[in-house]
Amino acid sequence: MIVLDKISKKIGTRVLFDDVSAAFNPGNRYGLTGPNGAGKSTLLKIMMGVEEATSGSVNLPKKVGFLRQNIEEFKDYKVLDTVIIGNERLWKAMVERDMLYEQEMTDQVGMRLGEIEEIIADEDGYSADSDAETLLTGMGITSDFHESKMHEIPSDLQFRVLLCQALFGDPEALLLDEPTNHLDLESIGWLENFLHDYTGTLIVVSHDRHFLNAVTTHIADIDYDTIITYPGNYDEMLVAKTAVRERTEHENKSKEKKIAQLKEFVARFGKGSRASQVQSRIREINRLMPQDLKRSNIQRPYIRFTPPEKQPGKIVLKGESLSKAFDGESVIQDFSIEIMRGEKIAVIGNNGRGKTTLIKMLAGALSPDSGQVEQGHEVSIGYFPQNHAELIDKTQKISAFDWLKEQGNSAYDQEIRGAMGKMLFSGDDAFKEISKLSGGETARLILAALMLKNHNVLILDEPNNHLDLESVSALAWGLSEFNGTVIFVAHDRELINDVAKKIISFDASGIQVFSGSLAELRA
Ligand SMILES: Nc1ncnc2c1ncn2[C@@H]1O[C@H](COP(=O)(O)OP(=O)(O)OP(=O)(O)O)[C@@H](O)[C@H]1O
Ligand SMILES: [Mg+2]
Repeated sequence: MIVLDKISKKIGTRVLFDDVSAAFNPGNRYGLTGPNGAGKSTLLKIMMGVEEATSGSVNLPKKVGFLRQNIEEFKDYKVLDTVIIGNERLWKAMVERDMLYEQEMTDQVGMRLGEIEEIIADEDGYSADSDAETLLTGMGITSDFHESKMHEIPSDLQFRVLLCQALFGDPEALLLDEPTNHLDLESIGWLENFLHDYTGTLIVVSHDRHFLNAVTTHIADIDYDTIITYPGNYDEMLVAKTAVRERTEHENKSKEKKIAQLKEFVARFGKGSRASQVQSRIREINRLMPQDLKRSNIQRPYIRFTPPEKQPGKIVLKGESLSKAFDGESVIQDFSIEIMRGEKIAVIGNNGRGKTTLIKMLAGALSPDSGQVEQGHEVSIGYFPQNHAELIDKTQKISAFDWLKEQGNSAYDQEIRGAMGKMLFSGDDAFKEISKLSGGETARLILAALMLKNHNVLILDEPNNHLDLESVSALAWGLSEFNGTVIFVAHDRELINDVAKKIISFDASGIQVFSGSLAELRA
């Protein structure tokens, strides 16, 4: 069981949550929801003890698995080891054992080795490799990658290895922050089944409605500076939340009416002879004070891309016989494509098949092993990487505003503030340090940079990851309205349906190009 006891978190003058108490029971699967920046990741970090609460305390079981966000941290580790690191006690013991075997064998070393072997046995260390392999294979990472270093495999697979790491070693509680980012539909299905059979306490943050509905038994929703737990899945929570809100609004309205009548009475007779009646009405007014309706945190950004005045050539990009291999493993082979001005293309298919590799080559962010990419006349490409860290170095100590300014755009400060406002960085939020930004805020900042730059070709790799539902729908609108060219990777069916008029599909038989929408392809 996980217990939060009177947790408050204030950041500067901002209150994320105030005096929250809650219990999360084993066997239940909780979805932790709320708009971007509501404080979901912060709450998980408080639970894991990585970040301190302003006040209050947390009670946690001994063995907790959690999903890390930073693939760079593990880049020099082997894939298999990265998974095993998920069991910290076991991993430490294994590292120490290897170190001791390097040393001269003394009695003391021998004693310590005995202790360590006991820990390793206790933590099922002798089946660690095969347990890790089972998880990896379930996640669609085939055995030819298990001995590779993390940085040698495509980044979407690296994120999945981290997910296996969280699940490794039978944790009593699982804290997962947006596990479906970077996952294709097949792996999401696998994860849904895995979590469904999980018997510990699960708390999962997600903006993916389908996933939440499939997995959760309860929703803990962060809004109005607090956390309210609703039984049921995400859709049921929305219904309940709206009903509560409407009821309170309704009650407030009738109270306000009553108060107005009472006040009128007081105003009329206040100075007169009916003092006791006036007094009782004043008491009544105080009793009736409408419940403060806090503003919901839910907000919608305004996403609009304006292309430059100069039109690009009719063919904006031409990929000729592109091939790319990683670690000897061929990912793209002899693929050619012509992309025409104004096309809206979704790139779909399972992870690890090379979607990111292909669009990186088209964006000029990765060179092919053979073949070439030619850009049309007057083409200006804006690229949104799957791994935000490729664009935003969060170890830098600069503000969101300064980062945008550094992006080499000639925009005036005022325009930058304007774009930031549209992306919901209003007031002081514009000067937040980039290292502090939440996942969704980081994605919005990258979108702001693209909006300021007037590109005529946008190449976006899973831009909806991290974004809340409002933002994804604003993005779908922005991309549909944009009269330039868009190539984007996504697993979000609604986004693909709303935007794409052409599909590049990666499957077992290779890469297919289909002229038509996803609905037409599936029909
Ligand atoms: N140390 C800090 N200083 C200033 N602001 C911070 C700090 N840490 C977090 N924040 C802000 O607190 C808010 C909550 O951040 P958090 O990462 O918990 O959001 P989230 O709910 O996980 O959002 P997302 O859905 O985008 O992942 C954000 O607005 C973030 O910018
Ligand atoms: Mg978060």
